[in-house]
Amino acid sequence: MTGISTTGIPHLGNYLGAIKPAVAHSHNKSNESFYFLADYHALVKCRDPQLLEQSVCEVAATWLAFGLDTNHAIFYRQSDIPEITELSWILSCFTAKGLMNRAHAYKASVDANINEQEDADRAITMGLYSYPVLMSADILMFNASRVPVGADQVQHIEMTRDIAQRFNHQYGEHFVLPEAELSTTNKVLSGLDGRKMSKSYDNTIALFCSSAQLRKLIMKIKTDSSAPEEPKSTEDCALFELYSAFATPDQTQCMMSQYRAGISWGAVKEDLFVLLDGILSEPRAHYEALMRKPNHIEQVLTKGAVRAREYSSELLARVRQSVGIRPIA
Ligand code: TRP
Repeated sequence: MTGISTTGIPHLGNYLGAIKPAVAHSHNKSNESFYFLADYHALVKCRDPQLLEQSVCEVAATWLAFGLDTNHAIFYRQSDIPEITELSWILSCFTAKGLMNRAHAYKASVDANINEQEDADRAITMGLYSYPVLMSADILMFNASRVPVGADQVQHIEMTRDIAQRFNHQYGEHFVLPEAELSTTNKVLSGLDGRKMSKSYDNTIALFCSSAQLRKLIMKIKTDSSAPEEPKSTEDCALFELYSAFATPDQTQCMMSQYRAGISWGAVKEDLFVLLDGILSEPRAHYEALMRKPNHIEQVLTKGAVRAREYSSELLARVRQSVGIRPIA
């Protein structure tokens, strides 16, 4: 199971780190898998209703465009499963406040306030503070055993285990303890400016920008000032990194020898553009078609929610019964 944050437009790094492996997984019939759009998590950061809605639509269309198997895997929107927010409250009653005080995202906000000599809690909402509890509910609701996440989310999985253990200890084994699964493509993709490709640095290449825009962005990637015919190193080279992340091993070998022999940055950029545009053109067309049919996306999500709720309503009923939230006998 994995949650997909619905803030911002998905970029090349998101594709390699999350979308590509998940889509492959969704076709694996020996697994049961759950993928969902974490829109209640997005509400923590996004105060623009139009943007929140649009982001859900774009992210859903992106995953579908790459061929997520929604007949096998269960693909849904978090807010369509009211049992999740209900479980979140129940879990919050078993979550140590001290545990939440240690959450990286919360601590980073507090530290930023203190550095600016502001009140430590300035602009910090309970949504930000309780973010890990909602995430625990997402995971425990479906008794997910393996959760593929980026390194920044590992702490949240550990917190989920802690919360689940406290509950199980009190009421018996209701929840499976999840394991974080770090993406095997541990390589972090560099962005346009050479730093890690990330929404927060505004240095990303959107997956489904137009072909013309893709070329323009690739031409912007930072390179050094070595002369065209000079041999070049593939180490710490953002262009090579991008190329090899998407190319076949043979293509990568060939590019390596061109680096050794001397190839102009312009030519590398052109090759990278041709490679990426080739890989992206079909899903891009699929994406654009989906974006013209938001009703279809809505239907896919509704169908996913019905399937997800078969699990969530059953689990929540058991949990409520166990804690004593139940009809008076
Ligand atoms: N917090 C995750 C992120 O920012 C998204 C997420 C929400 C998630 N709920 C989840 C991931 C449950 C895995 C499992 O990427």
